[in-house]
Amino acid sequence: MVNYKDLGLVNTRDMFARAIKGGYAIPAFNFNNMEQLQAIIKASVETKSPVILQVSKGARNYANQTLLRYMAEGAVAYAKEMGCEHPEIVLHLDHGDSFELCKSCVDLGFSSVMIDGSHLPYEENVALTKKVVEYAHQFDVTVEGELGVLAGVEDEVSAEHHTYTNPEEVIDFATRTGCDSLAISIGTSHGAYKFKPEQCHLDPKTGRLVPPPLAFDVLDAVMEKLPGFPIVLHGSSSVPQEYVDMINQYGGKLEAAIGIPEEELRKAAKSAVCKINIDSDSRLAMTAAVRRVFAEKPAEFDPRKYLGPARDEMEKMYKHKILNVLGSDGKLAQC
Ligand code: G3H
Ligand code: 13P
Ligand code: ZN
Repeated sequence: MVNYKDLGLVNTRDMFARAIKGGYAIPAFNFNNMEQLQAIIKASVETKSPVILQVSKGARNYANQTLLRYMAEGAVAYAKEMGCEHPEIVLHLDHGDSFELCKSCVDLGFSSVMIDGSHLPYEENVALTKKVVEYAHQFDVTVEGELGVLAGVEDEVSAEHHTYTNPEEVIDFATRTGCDSLAISIGTSHGAYKFKPEQCHLDPKTGRLVPPPLAFDVLDAVMEKLPGFPIVLHGSSSVPQEYVDMINQYGGKLEAAIGIPEEELRKAAKSAVCKINIDSDSRLAMTAAVRRVFAEKPAEFDPRKYLGPARDEMEKMYKHKILNVLGSDGKLAQC
């Protein structure tokens, strides 16, 4: 049994309370490899932002849960080495799908876990979430639950159609489970294809497709039922057009990839939404940079020569999110 506090990690409780009060959101970035982790830590240290490192089931399968945990421990030392004396880094399990998986993460040193029972019948979701909370809270590990189903498809997370969160259920869910934060469904979804072109309208000024707005009425109703309760938005990548264009320019084939407009996320970050999940934008930044090197320097075969630029591009993107979208810069409790 490893306690995350001994690794220099923190749970989400304090940072969420401050984020709600201050009208900003904490970035939750997924990581699967060293370059992503370096870019996340560098971006958060340089902007003095708290940060949540997320490990999905797919990441565990790809990189190994134990190795990822040691990397997160290393990230704390790396942040300190860069001059950040009191980094606030959370190691979070993303979309945990069983009690056993959540327990294994708690036991290994994760400081936060998500139990995603959103696909289960309501009472089963309540029972499973409560069981995880009861275990995790013994070790002061915070727990994210989910109500409502997001649309979209990713490796381990898929749902054909979304169902918005029912605000009538949130008080009962939060009270009976004791969860620390709640992920809700208001129209975001996982992956780079969040909307079909026919759902969007063309902006004559930019020539770009604009997706339908998020269901802020649902968010407002949830906040009214649970004042001051930490809300989480999954599926919040913006799918920057510049990356899609770069990928396509250098031999890729991403057709009609559409994300959440940044204005919508800015608006959400000012509300009780205090954790915003971003994964796909990092994948796009990395792929765009790697493709460019491969196309421009076909003789290059030193991985550092293409993973280095990919890391730089991801760092730029993470900083942009922190500074211009979520507003979590300069929000460390102590520098
Ligand atoms: O919410 C899903 C995350 O983007 C993780 O995706 O399961 O492919 O690692 P993954
Ligand atoms: P995106 O696919 O929009 O980046 O969402 C990531 C996510 O929600 C991770 O849990
Ligand atoms: Zn998610």
